Amino acid sequence: MRRLPPPARKALLTLHLVTSLGWLGADLVLLTLGVAALRGADPAVVYPVAALIGTVLFAPLSVLVWLVGVASALLTPWGLLRYRWVLTKLVITTVMVGLVLFLLTPNLRHAGALGVALPARDRADLVIAPAVSTSLMVIATVLSTYKPWGRRPAARPTVAGPASHDRAATRM
Ligand code: HEM
Repeated sequence: MRRLPPPARKALLTLHLVTSLGWLGADLVLLTLGVAALRGADPAVVYPVAALIGTVLFAPLSVLVWLVGVASALLTPWGLLRYRWVLTKLVITTVMVGLVLFLLTPNLRHAGALGVALPARDRADLVIAPAVSTSLMVIATVLSTYKPWGRRPAARPTVAGPASHDRAATRM
């Protein structure tokens, strides 16, 4: 895969940060709304707003985060499957995108349509789901900054040593 020149790589990293941390922010908003409804805020107001944010912002952003994340790996020396921290983020984000598109978004739409009539169990789900996904995104952010666990054995270079490759990956 062709590698990016430094200015393009910085632009891609900026896009990756804006989209992924924007996704985390939107998730915190959904969590706030879910908790507010449990604590007595008007469900006829809160759930339609949550449905709007879920459908118009959170779901499209999740696909964008996945695409830009994969591009950030493929177009830099990190690679997609070479480092454990990148691979773990790929798995976390892929699972989350699936859950957001096929579980959370339909549930939010359902809650928005029902409002006050939403059963208590479904109300709790609208707190648990954003709490779990926020935690996973915080884990993804920590993995990104600490970059733990090194390279996967199958991805270790045979000619240049791992240390030299690690330096190449982090250089911009
Ligand atoms: C498909 C999923 C993802 C992949 C494959 C991925 C991959 C990468 C790669 C390769 C870099 C390094 C880019 C570079 O050096 O130019 C990076 C940086 C970063 N990623 Fe992700 N990422 C994904 C999802 C996420 C998510 C969900 C978050 C947070 C919510 C996140 C937060 C960050 C942060 C904060 C950095 C900056 C680290 C630094 O520059 O030291 N990423 N990501």
